[in-house]
Amino acid sequence: MATVVPEESTASTEVKAHEVRPPRKPSASQIAAARSLPNNNEAVWPAFTTKLPSSLYIDEDRFDEEHRKLFMTLPLPLAPSALLAEPGSFVCRDGFGQSVILTRDKDGKVHALVNSCRHRGSRVTENDEPAKGRLMICPYHAWSYDLSGKLMAVPRREVFGELDKSELGMVKLPCVEKGGIIWVKMDHEANDDFSHVSDELVADFDALGVADMHMFALRKHEVEGNWKLILDTFLEGYHVIRLHVQTVGPLYEDTVVQVDRLGSHLRQTSARVGFTKDILAQNEESVDDLRRVVTYVYTLLPNVAFICSQDYCNMLVMQPKGVGKTIVHNFMLTNVNPQSEKLRQKWEKSLELTDGLAFPEDFSASAATYQGLTTGVVKELMIGGMEVAMEHYHEMIEEMVARA
Ligand code: FES
Ligand SMILES: [Fe+2]
Repeated sequence: MATVVPEESTASTEVKAHEVRPPRKPSASQIAAARSLPNNNEAVWPAFTTKLPSSLYIDEDRFDEEHRKLFMTLPLPLAPSALLAEPGSFVCRDGFGQSVILTRDKDGKVHALVNSCRHRGSRVTENDEPAKGRLMICPYHAWSYDLSGKLMAVPRREVFGELDKSELGMVKLPCVEKGGIIWVKMDHEANDDFSHVSDELVADFDALGVADMHMFALRKHEVEGNWKLILDTFLEGYHVIRLHVQTVGPLYEDTVVQVDRLGSHLRQTSARVGFTKDILAQNEESVDDLRRVVTYVYTLLPNVAFICSQDYCNMLVMQPKGVGKTIVHNFMLTNVNPQSEKLRQKWEKSLELTDGLAFPEDFSASAATYQGLTTGVVKELMIGGMEVAMEHYHEMIEEMVARA
């Protein structure tokens, strides 16, 4: 009988008992998706061709429309909860047309504040690494704010005459923390309807325990390509054994992918090497066992790929800077905070394999595609039976653009 080959070799005996988290039950929907997969040697791919206009990726007007209708309208999955693991911490996140300070106050509640002082508008903080503190102090004239954005102190307050501090808090953005992700609306006047953050998605992320994961690393990449081209590379497995032939390709084989819409988001479930239904049946009790047998890749619309590897996840946030320029933040989350050098080194290797090798291959392919499309010769991109999730994604994005 075929066995499942782990993505990276780790005998569980090498890992200390307290570094393995207690078993967590998968969601019913995660199990159902895995059960719908055929044995690897019986895979049959759907056969079809769909076409996408190249203007979706290279047209400036289209890019501006997406900025208004997607990035300024929808709740954006800005960062994992693990970025602000501790109460009393804050971090600045630039991009998406707004500089935002994410904070976790002393009671553990998350806030999103526009990074602009109520005195004369200066940025209040430049910290792009989480900092700890009770107050955020504007560097210009030292007005200080607590982590909920409340104005706490004004030096020489008397020189302002009448001044109502309670009306001069930092401007808040609508924000929720769900499924271990911090979701923020970039328009401070937007309503606080967060139904975009679908219950089905949150159920899966709660089953994965994303909220309790450890922030192992944060890496930043600049890619000369359209943001959706980068996302596309995480929406199909067609390229994996081909583009990644020198890196992660040999760890995978062409497999059928089960694509499910989770409300406004997507989940791809794919079999790992050696997958059979018998092996699956022995690994359904715990979500971490299940992750050894199948890989779940989530697309959080509009702009995030969330890849669940065996015992760590990568949250890749696309931050468009222009029609052909994107910043990608890669948050690597591990199941636990490693205590032993052995486990830490293992995850360092995983980081090198993904962020250091495989993801840059995806980014280069996206940049090369952008350059190729800007020649204007190829008016339409073709999508086939191994790129089904791309078809869903672009359909959903079109619906969101049309609806906004
Ligand atoms: S601009 Fe912030 S204190 Fe003056
Ligand atoms: Fe890839």
